[in-house]
Amino acid sequence: MGFEFSPLCEALGAEIHGLVPETIDRADAQRLRQALHDYAVLLVRGLDLTPAAHVELTRAFGDPEIHPIESIRHEQQPEIIVLGAGQSGQPDPDDPSGDDLIGALPWHSDLSYAQFPCRGALLYPRRVVPDGGQTGFLDTASVYDALPTAMKDRIEGLEVLHALGPIQEVINRAAEVDYAAEPEAAPQFAPVVHPLVHRLPETGRKALNLSTTTAQSIIGLPEEESRTLLRELTEFATQRHFTYFHSWQLGDLMVWDNWRTMHIVTGFKRRHPRLMHRTTLRGGAALCA
Ligand code: OGA
Ligand code: MN
Repeated sequence: MGFEFSPLCEALGAEIHGLVPETIDRADAQRLRQALHDYAVLLVRGLDLTPAAHVELTRAFGDPEIHPIESIRHEQQPEIIVLGAGQSGQPDPDDPSGDDLIGALPWHSDLSYAQFPCRGALLYPRRVVPDGGQTGFLDTASVYDALPTAMKDRIEGLEVLHALGPIQEVINRAAEVDYAAEPEAAPQFAPVVHPLVHRLPETGRKALNLSTTTAQSIIGLPEEESRTLLRELTEFATQRHFTYFHSWQLGDLMVWDNWRTMHIVTGFKRRHPRLMHRTTLRGGAALCA
């Protein structure tokens, strides 16, 4: 099938034009997987996906994984998680609390607290908001490449402890999303140790593993030094020129390589509930240095 790619922005990503999900064959799926390795983030616009079609399209990119947290799974399609904020009733139109910002999440990668973080995800909006509610992305392989050599040398071989902890809990309460289910599930997940710099198996490129909602400390460093290093790396990685922020329209689909990116959600008004469906691509292996 004749779908084409164009750059999404200078920093990262590609937009796919002319993709017709029902016609994707094996060769197309191969091109799509290759594109995800080449571009890290992909956008398709103008889709009209049922939940079943969303799952089917996920299979073109890899193996759908059922999210370990049951309470956020879609009832008919367990491969989908439902991410809603502001669903629990609306303030009156003249109630000023309608202007409160909810739904914001800091830079993170998904399932970074799991032994085998997921490989990717496909995010599709079911209800969009008139302002805010953007999803931002950055490419942690490009970020790594741009680090000063002294910093590359300093972080080589370091490991980072990831856990679902109190920070995540505070964030989730503020966000009012069903991610509140994640800290509740914390006892299911023992803390895990991942390489801070890991290699992408397909290309051998190095990428940073920083997920700020779960990265607790660098193994073997004094607490203060560990915190400072994580903060320095995060400040470097999240510079504007590394990022792309997507303003959602219905019909948009964003796909990301979760081993090579972080994403963020900007807040939106309580009076405008937002609803997203997401599928997850299985990682099936630990991140390797
Ligand atoms: C996610 C996520 C971002 C969004 O699906 O993992 O962080 O914009 N969602 O809802
Ligand atoms: Mn996420």
